[in-house]
Order: sequence, then structure tokens, then C-alpha cells
Amino acid sequence: TSDMAIVSRKGSAIVRTYREQKERKKSQLKQWELAGTRMGDILGVQKKEDDVDKNPEGDFKADHKFADLMQDKNEAVSDFAKRKSIAAQRKYLPIFAVRNELLNIIRDNSVVIIVGETGSGKTTQLTQYLHEDGYTKFGLVGCTQPRRVAAMSVAKRVSEEMGVNLGEEVGYAIRFEDCTNENTIIKYMTDGILLRESLRESDLDHYSAIIMDEAHERSLNTDVLFGLLRDVVSRRQDLKLIVTSATMDATKFSNFFGNVAIFNIPGRTFPVDVMFSKNPVEDYVDCSVKQALQVHLQGLEGDMLIFMPGQEDIEITCELLAERLDDLDDAPPLAILPIYSQLPSDLQAKIFQKAPDGVRKCIVATNIAETSLTVDGIMFVIDAGYCKLKVYNPKIGMDALQIYPISQANANQRSGRAGRTGPGQCYRLYTHRQYKDELLACTVPEIQRTNLANVVLLLKSLGVQDLLQFHFMDPPPQDNIMNSMYQLWILGALDNTGSLTPMGRQMVEFPLDPALSKMVIVSLDMECSAEILTIVSMLSVPTIFYRPKGREEDSDSAREKFQVPESDHLTYLNVYQQWKRNGYSSNWCNEHFIHIKAMRKVREVRQQLKEIMDSQKMELISCGNEWDIVRKSICSAYFHQAARLKGLGEYVNCRTGMPCHLHPTSALFGMGYTPDYIVYHELVMTSKEYMQCVTSVDGQWLAELGPMFYSIKDASKTRVERKKQALNEMIEMEEEMKRADELIKARKEQA
Ligand code: CDP
Ligand code: MG
Repeated sequence: TSDMAIVSRKGSAIVRTYREQKERKKSQLKQWELAGTRMGDILGVQKKEDDVDKNPEGDFKADHKFADLMQDKNEAVSDFAKRKSIAAQRKYLPIFAVRNELLNIIRDNSVVIIVGETGSGKTTQLTQYLHEDGYTKFGLVGCTQPRRVAAMSVAKRVSEEMGVNLGEEVGYAIRFEDCTNENTIIKYMTDGILLRESLRESDLDHYSAIIMDEAHERSLNTDVLFGLLRDVVSRRQDLKLIVTSATMDATKFSNFFGNVAIFNIPGRTFPVDVMFSKNPVEDYVDCSVKQALQVHLQGLEGDMLIFMPGQEDIEITCELLAERLDDLDDAPPLAILPIYSQLPSDLQAKIFQKAPDGVRKCIVATNIAETSLTVDGIMFVIDAGYCKLKVYNPKIGMDALQIYPISQANANQRSGRAGRTGPGQCYRLYTHRQYKDELLACTVPEIQRTNLANVVLLLKSLGVQDLLQFHFMDPPPQDNIMNSMYQLWILGALDNTGSLTPMGRQMVEFPLDPALSKMVIVSLDMECSAEILTIVSMLSVPTIFYRPKGREEDSDSAREKFQVPESDHLTYLNVYQQWKRNGYSSNWCNEHFIHIKAMRKVREVRQQLKEIMDSQKMELISCGNEWDIVRKSICSAYFHQAARLKGLGEYVNCRTGMPCHLHPTSALFGMGYTPDYIVYHELVMTSKEYMQCVTSVDGQWLAELGPMFYSIKDASKTRVERKKQALNEMIEMEEEMKRADELIKARKEQA
């Protein structure tokens, strides 16, 4: 739909909401029962008797609790034995063979690009080698990761390898979670953290070496860091910059930094048999489950890795797989382990644990397992062929999280996971023709497809006046920059000349999206900052409501008791306040189907944001029970994301006229109460355009707070007129910026 050449694969993308999937699953199970057939018969699989004998745990049933068992078993291994085997493992990694060569090259060059297969030891070893070579005497060795999960799990692994406690010599930092202290010498962090650190310390003087890991992922923050670090290395002769990449791209990276050295780690990979689907696959969840069972029952040893686009599909796949396995008599045990970024970290860690003998692991993952995390022993890969991407649609002026076909580069990376420890097999749930004709060669870098509001705000506060002149490896489309600037102007962060306003400068202080920062700032004037702070914190953690299998209805009714009919935001506030009233108790959470860990996180985030407010001399003011003013504060930050009631329970976006739907989990859904105007936190596209986290607002507020979009008489204006008006405003702003630019240039020339 956008002009970015990302196309949906026609007809084959079956994308469903959670509820729809549940319904479908139920009816499918009924069909199985009606047919009266056994799963093995359907799959045409003959199970050999001796498969069962390979299972030493006897009649152990495969289920999710399996992972717990594995943990107990692992803990029984003595610390000494563990360390010894870890030392041996380090020496076995491909990177170990070139350790000295590598350190020499780093000594002789300030920037080095390192290329190596996934699993060769780049992420876990490079930091340690640099430490062993003395770099930590002069500063920190930092290593950036595009993903939070990777930053945490790798730091943990390296702390184990070095035999130290996590958070001491080896630590990590992700947004709202700093697990480092004054002893830390190796620091893993998300690229976003390093980017924010560069705000405080533009030359990053704390660091003696920085490894920009997973650079091929081309995350937004990594791309911005590229531009910034390029200048930092030219100013700081003592800094070592290392950029790692899985494959390809190396020459491009090298050119960007001025033809710097490229070092290849000789790989050690095994052949992988790649099998394509004969026909386009309609239902990739169902198909993966069937394929997984077939692989599992065919009796070959080796662990399995299934790639799914996102959390919902992963959950369904795990459930279906467990259920169908349960239906089989005497199926060999299977440890089913999900992994995605929002999964609590203790559960994430389980994918790395060794399964008991005779038990196959089946990891169901997002593209997080493509390159960021390496699990040894994978022999079989099942690739559904999709991933979730955040894409900015300039036509509607919004970011949307959507499921897209992966790229060929992704596909090859995925299949490669099966050939790390021995020959493997990869089942692609798409046809060879689809692979050739429909998949892009590489994914479009994030910087070219997402909203840049945050980046613009950061760069502006770093003093980058002209963003179009900033040295990007792949510059974002000019439209995206202009659109993001426009959005910041709407929020009052930029003035008509494109410079930061005092409001904008305050917004930069918060590690939040611009709209949320604005909400916090506005809430001071509206005298409800205590409440808004809670809401913003609640929005910054993964879901807090818990919906355990088999107790869905109890959980839903518990959830409904918290719902404030006019607002999801207020519903969150309500949950937090009740929790607080109950002494932040964990029992209370359990009783009400609320994730205690998520709530503790909320409390932490709130505390951290409060500290930022304190440092900005911003007061915490409570409005008591006057919650209308809270809704107005929310409106002041989200008026650009408003929808108007049109017909029964149907909404259309106020600015674009596009139909938008209430999400079934919303407090406003199916309550018989449908306000005329609502604002929403974000738009998610699955089977429909869903507005997530919604609050009802007063039409008057929209006119008052978003005068550039709405006026009381606005209804008389047509959509085209409103679009035209927005366009004119943007052109005006652009021209004014150009004039300001010329003025600055003229002044410079005079000086
Ligand atoms: O970064 P690269 O893909 O080159 O490799 P790595 O992440 O450093 O992984 C090297 C080895 O450490 C692999 O064999 C992983 O299985 C192992 N590892 C682990 O056991 N646990 C982790 N949390 C991370 C890595
Ligand atoms: Mg790595």
C-alpha cells in the first residue's frame, strides 16, 4: 500500500486476532474429533516402537512445565563442572582460532568491520578479548544490541563465562533497567541506550571500545549511531570502534567509515537441505504444527526451531503443538519453548538450557532467533516466512505494526540456523516461486520505513540543525523526515523554523515517545502529573493482564472489574491505584489475574520517571478523583490520533477518514457505551485496523488542543480540504525553515 515496495503476499497471508484464532482452533479440534482419526494417521506417519524406548523418562508427558524440570536438572550440575565446560566451549568457537590476528588488526585500526557466521562467537567473545587485551584499563568496553533480549541474555552468558556476578564486572543496560555498577568493565546495552548516552557525553569518553553488534539488522538507532560515531572516531584517536555483521553488507559498512579494514572469521557450517512448500500455504500456524509433528515423529535426533511472526502466533503454535502431541499415544517427549521479546526473561533463559537426554527441544521464536540469539543443537528449522515490521505509512501519517513476508536474506539466515552443529533440514512454508518472485532481496532498513519523530528530536537536541545534511548510511525518504518534523511541530516540540522549543527540550529528557513525554509535561499544568505518570509507566511495560490456559473466563471477568468504561488509560490507572492500596501485594495480583512482575516493573519505571521529573523541578500533583482532567491531558498528547463515531460502534479516523476498530480487549468494546470522540495510543494492523488503548474525549478538547486539525465547524470541511490544509501548513513550515537556514548561512558567511 505504501510506495516502499513492501507488498503483502497475495492471498496467503492469513492474519488473525487472538480471539479469532482461538475460535478457529476450537472448531478445528472439533473437526479432528468428529473425524475420529488419530493424528498419526492424518499425518501419514508410522511411528516406530523404538522411538519410544529412546525416552528414558518413561511416561513423561510433554508440556510447558517441562522447562521447569530442565532447570532443576541443570542446577544440579556443580558450578565447577559448569565453568570447566564453559572454558572448553570458548576454545571451540570459530573466533578463538583467529583471536590474536583479530586483536592485532584492532590494535592497528580505529575502526574494524568483523564478519562471521552466526554463532561464531562475535557477541560473547569480542568483549572478553578486548578486556583480556587491556582495553578495560582505559574505559568501558561497550557492546550494543538492537534487541533487549539479546543484551540481557548475552550479558548473563558472558558473566558466567568470566565467573562473575551479573551486574558487577559484566552488566547490561536497557531502557528502564540498568544492571551495571561502578565495577562494570563490560557493558552490553541496546543501541537506544548508547544513543541516549551520547546526549550527555557526545564523545562517549567513558568508553575505550565500542562494538556495534548485529549491524546488519540496521535498526533505527544503530543507523543513527553510525552517523554519530563516524564523527566521534575522527575526534577520538583512542577509541576503538568495531562493527559486526552476520554476512553481506560488510563493504558498505567499510565504505561508510572511509574504507576501513574488514576481517572475516572463517566459518564452520554444515550443509542444510532446504525444502520449499509445493503449494502456497494458507494457514502457516497449522502447517508449521503439522510439519513439526512430522519431524518429531520421524525419529531423527536434533532440536527444532520454528519461526513465527509474533507473540500471538507463537502462543497458538505452542498450544496446538502441545495439544496434538497429547492426543498421540506414546509420542516421544518434546520440550516446547516459546521465545519473543515480551516474554519474561526467566522464561526466555530456558531456551538455552539443555534438555534431559532423549528429549527434543522445540523452540518457537520470532526473528529474534535469526541472528541475535544462538541456540546450539538445532537440526531442523521450520520457517513460516513472515515477520512483524513497524512501517510508517506516509499516506495516513501513521506507524503500523504489520505482518510482512520476510526477505530472502532473512530466509537464508533462518535456514542457516539448522547447520551449525551438523547437517540440517529447513522446511520453508512458501513455494520456491514465491521465494524468487515475491520476497525482497533484503529488508528495507528501519530508518527508511518508520516514523522518525524520536530521532529528529534527539538529533535536534544534539545540535544537528539540518537533518537532510546528516550523514546517514541510507538516508530516510525526505517525506518521512518532513512528516516527523511536522508531527513534532504539532506537539509543540519544534517551532516554525524547525528549532527545538523549550517544550521540545524538556521532552528530550524523557526516554519516552514524544507524545508520552508531552503528556507528562502537560499534566503539570493540568495538575494531574501523579496520575499521568502512572499511566505512562503502565504503557511502558508489556501486558499486565494474565490469561492462563483453561481459566480464560475467570481472567476476563477479573479484568472487566477494573475497567473504567470511558478509558483504557484510566483502567490502567485504576489497576495501579488498587494495587497500591493493597500494599503492592503479590497475592492481590495473583487473585486478580495480574502479572506481578509486570506491575513491579511499572513501579520501577514510575520511580525512574519521577527522578527525571525531580531533576527537572517538575512537581508531582494529584487530581484525586477528578479523572476528567486526566482524560484531557491524554487528549493533549494524542489529539492527532483521534477517531469519530460513525454508525453503530464504528469509528473513522478524524484526519484521514480511515475506518478504525476498537480492540476486543478495550474497556470500550461491547460495553454499549460508544463516545462520539476517542483518541488512541497506537494503531495495530492485523486482520483490521485496531486502535489500541483508547480514551473517550470531548469534541471541544480536540478543537482546543489540536487547532491545526480541528475546529468546531470542521465537520463541514471535506476530507480533501482538511488534507489540503495540512499540506499547506507543512509547505509553509518547510519554507520558513528554509528561510531560517539561509539566514543562518548568511550569518555564518558574515562571521
Ligand atoms: O555473536 P555470534 O552469533 O557470532 O555468536 P555468540 O552469540 O557469541 O555465540 C557463541 C556461542 O555462545 C554459541 O555457541 C552460543 O550457543 C553460546 N551462547 C550461549 O550458550 N548462551 C547465550 N546466552 C549466548 C551464547
Ligand atoms: Mg551475535
